[in-house]
Amino acid sequence: MKFIHLSDTHLVANKGSLHASDPIYKLRRAVQSINKHQNDVDFVVITGDLTDSGSLDAYKDLKEILDDLVVPYYLIIGNQDKRENFFKVFGGLSDYESSYAHFSIIKNNSLLLFLDTKFGDLHDGGFCEERFEWLKNKLEKNSQLPIYIFMHHPPFEIFQEQMDAIGFGPKKRFWEILSQAKNIKHIFFGHVHLLISGSYRGVGYSSVRSTNHQVALISKDKGFYFNSNVQPTYSIVHVKENQVNCVAHEYLIEEITYHNFVPMKKQDDTK
Ligand SMILES: [Fe+2]
Repeated sequence: MKFIHLSDTHLVANKGSLHASDPIYKLRRAVQSINKHQNDVDFVVITGDLTDSGSLDAYKDLKEILDDLVVPYYLIIGNQDKRENFFKVFGGLSDYESSYAHFSIIKNNSLLLFLDTKFGDLHDGGFCEERFEWLKNKLEKNSQLPIYIFMHHPPFEIFQEQMDAIGFGPKKRFWEILSQAKNIKHIFFGHVHLLISGSYRGVGYSSVRSTNHQVALISKDKGFYFNSNVQPTYSIVHVKENQVNCVAHEYLIEEITYHNFVPMKKQDDTK
């Protein structure tokens, strides 16, 4: 299985700019890059904060841009989204179960879980009883399959004070449920506007940068600062038996500047 992980596209109404950057331009460039250079992927997934304030127009713009993709795409929502407006435009995109924007698919004999961590009007992520039950059922019914999870908020600390302050609330219960499944392979998340990878309780995880603006890693004070000069990325993900490999691609820079590589004779790795 091969797919593209994108996140935090933050489209604004009236095709506006955001944090001195043009979110529509940067997303279009990602779509062009994927269509040209990564068109053999199984799908593209965007892990939330699709829009900056949940405006209906922004979702319509998003649909127009994403419909240009030559591969299928899947969407989940983040804290900046509005579920109601999202469903008005994308309600028929996936088999969303219940009034939450969560769904699952089975692909290549693996379970892919797409979670909805939006919690009220808060920037923090959360879950309610219904979502915990949904997750529990999915894990119980598919206990034999390898499981890959997509969610907006990371369900653990990422050691970045501002982002951890608006993290996923019910971590303890979430991991109590996840620990019942023995086959969680990887968690893909957004929200952090940073390129992060690591593992938690033996489960691998990774994020991608926003397509529009990144969290500025400066210790000025406790406020939020964004940096729109940092290159956005998408991640090219290969999933094979016992392996998840994520390559972060700074897709705005694709011009080749120098080419002088002559491959050497291939090693014989059977020895
Ligand atoms: Fe975001």
